[in-house]
Amino acid sequence: MIFYFSGCGNSRYIAQTLAQWLNDTLYFIPEMARESRYDYTLSEGEKLGFVFPIYSWAPPRLVLDFVKQLQLAEKPGYIYFACTCGDQCGQTEKIFRKALKEKGWELSACFSVQMPETYIGMPGFKLDTEERAKEKIEAAKASVMRNIPRLINKEMFSEMIVGSFAWLKSHLINNGFNKFALDDSKYRFTEKCISCGKCAEVCPLQNITLEDGHPKWNGHCTMCMGCYHHCPVNAIQYSKATEGKGQYCFS
Ligand SMILES: Cc1cc2nc3c(=O)[nH]c(=O)nc-3n(C[C@H](O)[C@H](O)[C@H](O)COP(=O)(O)O)c2cc1C
Repeated sequence: MIFYFSGCGNSRYIAQTLAQWLNDTLYFIPEMARESRYDYTLSEGEKLGFVFPIYSWAPPRLVLDFVKQLQLAEKPGYIYFACTCGDQCGQTEKIFRKALKEKGWELSACFSVQMPETYIGMPGFKLDTEERAKEKIEAAKASVMRNIPRLINKEMFSEMIVGSFAWLKSHLINNGFNKFALDDSKYRFTEKCISCGKCAEVCPLQNITLEDGHPKWNGHCTMCMGCYHHCPVNAIQYSKATEGKGQYCFS
């Protein structure tokens, strides 16, 4: 059983690869949360997996909220997570372990892979070059394939890119991010908008409705930037920060 979240497709790809090789079933966290589906039963010896992107050096808040609510008929014997980051994960492992511990569960294994950057919602943040994005994807594929046998054998391991000033980033900055940066009022559409509705279709939180054919953001955004990156004509901007920065989604 693998629970995953993804805004731009990087983590979805990793989740799908793991599901394929581990012969496992995928559950999309926002969908499960929307339907209040928190009760599950693992079969004997079944692994419990999570896959998600790193947001501000930590698991996205919606992933931690889901973990908090999750109910299993029996205590899982082997729990792992795989996360995708543009660069570094900070104290993600510690934070996730703590969330599990509060339920009386224990993390057995975790690993992170660098994938193309998706966050460009503030000045100074930019996408990877096409070449760098390709390099990251190739390295990530190799890392996943190397770790699959370890998961199959239920090994205990941790292979995380922590980075510098981890506590500061994963706590102080992350708190600020969750308080102030999930503000979807800064999203807007430009005259390029062709009213295709793709933004509403891809929004994992169903936070976008169409008014006169144009997107309206409704205040419960997780800042995955999926609407921005998936727009076929690059008609969505986030304040002035995204202007001229290009788009990326995993394809
Ligand atoms: C809101 C937001 C915050 C992010 N914060 C970080 C971060 O702290 N460290 C990092 O290395 N990458 C960060 N990233 C980059 C993503 O973790 C990375 O691109 C990830 O692979 C995106 O996954 P997805 O395509 O499944 O949504 C952030 C991306 C977003 C959208």
